[in-house]
Amino acid sequence: MKFADYKPYLSPALAKTTDLVMDSAKGFYITDLNGDKYIDLVQGIAVNALGHCHPNIVKAIQDQAAKLIDASFNLVSYPTTLELAKRISELAPGDLSTVFFSNGGSEANDGAIKLAKAVTGRPCIIAYRGSFHGRSIGATSITGSNSKYRKHYEPLMGGVYFAPYPNPYRWGTSGEAASEEVTTREALNELQIMFDQLVYPEDVAAIIIEPVLGEGGYVVPPKAYLEALRGICDKYGILLIFDEIQSGYGRTGKMFASEHFGVVPDVMTLGKAIAGGLPMSAIVSTEEIMSKWLPGMHGTTFGGHPVCAAAALAVLDTFKEENILENCTKVGEYLKSRLFELKEKYPVIGDVRGLGLMLAMEFINPEDRSPNAEAFNKVRQYCLDNKMLILGCGVYGNGFRIATPLNVTKDEVDQVLSIVDKALAAL
Ligand SMILES: Cc1ncc(COP(=O)(O)O)c(C=O)c1O
Repeated sequence: MKFADYKPYLSPALAKTTDLVMDSAKGFYITDLNGDKYIDLVQGIAVNALGHCHPNIVKAIQDQAAKLIDASFNLVSYPTTLELAKRISELAPGDLSTVFFSNGGSEANDGAIKLAKAVTGRPCIIAYRGSFHGRSIGATSITGSNSKYRKHYEPLMGGVYFAPYPNPYRWGTSGEAASEEVTTREALNELQIMFDQLVYPEDVAAIIIEPVLGEGGYVVPPKAYLEALRGICDKYGILLIFDEIQSGYGRTGKMFASEHFGVVPDVMTLGKAIAGGLPMSAIVSTEEIMSKWLPGMHGTTFGGHPVCAAAALAVLDTFKEENILENCTKVGEYLKSRLFELKEKYPVIGDVRGLGLMLAMEFINPEDRSPNAEAFNKVRQYCLDNKMLILGCGVYGNGFRIATPLNVTKDEVDQVLSIVDKALAAL
């Protein structure tokens, strides 16, 4: 079977970066129909926290599928989904204890916006330049990582205002580096200017932010910025939404990235890794906020699917049994230190950043620090030719995103580094 023979049957809207047709996968590796085995650094785009086909997840899916596949959580309940809601509520920070399940990240963010508007009775949303929240019209409306996502879809949802994401490596219009202090101060000034000149704070239902930027380049914001944001939201009665769809579920070494900053949002959205590779997402908020979202104000056919919930419970059990968060922190630190060594060796690497196993390198033209997407594309091609799948990130397409499974070993990381080293040497 060749992809090219079937390509005419698929909409070209989905921008595929390879024509590989895969047969099977296990852990860190994925094998195509020709029997060629690849290291998979993409893992379903930061989805497979436990790698491909972890036996606990496979068994949970099989057991549940043999019993009951779907009857709609609108109508009836299932032990798996009920238990999952309780488990997420116990894990979530602060008073976030009430869950609405849906199917993908965009849908969760759309729901979170609806929740914020319904509960506050306010019309506006503040989002961030550099952010990615998904592809539905609602999520596209709050996405600011690339104008290509918005092209031809205007007018999008109204009442959305964009603030600059506090990115110390490329701050302001010049894209120069700035200290965390300067970045925080100026980014907060920008918010104030927005309130003074563009949108009355009491008209804002929610500020939605990724506590670590995903698609936008794995940028870690200054802690002081998120702390101040919490204060601003409290002052004006604005709901703070953290999109933890990529940063959550252990990827940063803590269950949720918000824990690194000690800032608890009012609403948190989850997706990607939650169900071990099956499609599932969730909106998590306080009982008080959720109690104002009345029956029928939101809904879904598949949300809370019992097979996905069974897989999601297996993810949480395995996190505990296999000390996944500890592994993520330990191997993440090792990987980061080795990436810094590569940065010393290759001036094309301008920045190494991230938390846990949410790590990225930003490629630059060393003469002027400008983004170097060409270097990334060459590295990606080299990796593909040498049987490793990698993914880009960053608003300029010059970031190398590393999304290993969270149970990755030091030896597996060494295999990755060896290929990356050679790819950089070949540039
Ligand atoms: C932070 C973040 N939010 C939302 C989404 C959208 O999720 P989905 O593609 O499942 O709709 C993504 C996907 O990459 C994401 O990284």
